[in-house]
Amino acid sequence: MAITYRYIGHATHIFEIAGKTVLIDPFFTNNPLAKVKADEVNPHTILITHGHFDHIEDTVEIAKRTKAKVVANNEIINWLRAQGLSEEQTHAQNIGGGYQHIFGNVKLTLAHHSSSLPDGSYGGNPAGILIRAEEKNIYIAGDTALFSDMQLYKVNGVDLFIVPIGDNFTMGPEDALSAVKLLEPKLVIPCHYNTWPAIKQNADVWANRVEREVKHSKVVVLAPGGKLVLP
Ligand code: NI
Ligand code: MN
Repeated sequence: MAITYRYIGHATHIFEIAGKTVLIDPFFTNNPLAKVKADEVNPHTILITHGHFDHIEDTVEIAKRTKAKVVANNEIINWLRAQGLSEEQTHAQNIGGGYQHIFGNVKLTLAHHSSSLPDGSYGGNPAGILIRAEEKNIYIAGDTALFSDMQLYKVNGVDLFIVPIGDNFTMGPEDALSAVKLLEPKLVIPCHYNTWPAIKQNADVWANRVEREVKHSKVVVLAPGGKLVLP
């Protein structure tokens, strides 16, 4: 079955995989880009890359309402349990570890960033996410700097690479281009830009440059709310 992807805006993503809705980094309420509201989504699973508010903001509310399973590192899972989520509703993983969930395999990857939770408590190591499902490999870089070990994640090829281009907090356009060169993904979707003035970027200009310089990678720039079906 084809995988569908929807860009909510900033670093919030929704996949439909094998009939399940997978929500990544729920940030709706204070997300200037999101056209969708937190109470309009009904995920089966929520994946969290790190504890910053622009990645975790609406997690507790959505998880309580929908009973979605939440997957994150141990520190974030402990924090979510302290907010009232049950042990059964939460699943802790850690960097480098994969687990076969109902819709596909999820592995947390390295990400060079920081991670504290909205109340200031320690969020553990930040992560990226590798999803292997329906014979596709999806790599969501998360909030990260460029790092050369990223290329280890292309061992089975990368069908979709979701990469931050905003600069200031994460990779900017230059480093995101280098990341695409390392991974040679079939499809690239930029994110984590134009949310606030400090991360304003022209994604179309970036997309043209990537397609000029990286032969086999195609870039799709989606407006918030934009969707695509993985080829
Ligand atoms: Ni962050
Ligand atoms: Mn962020």
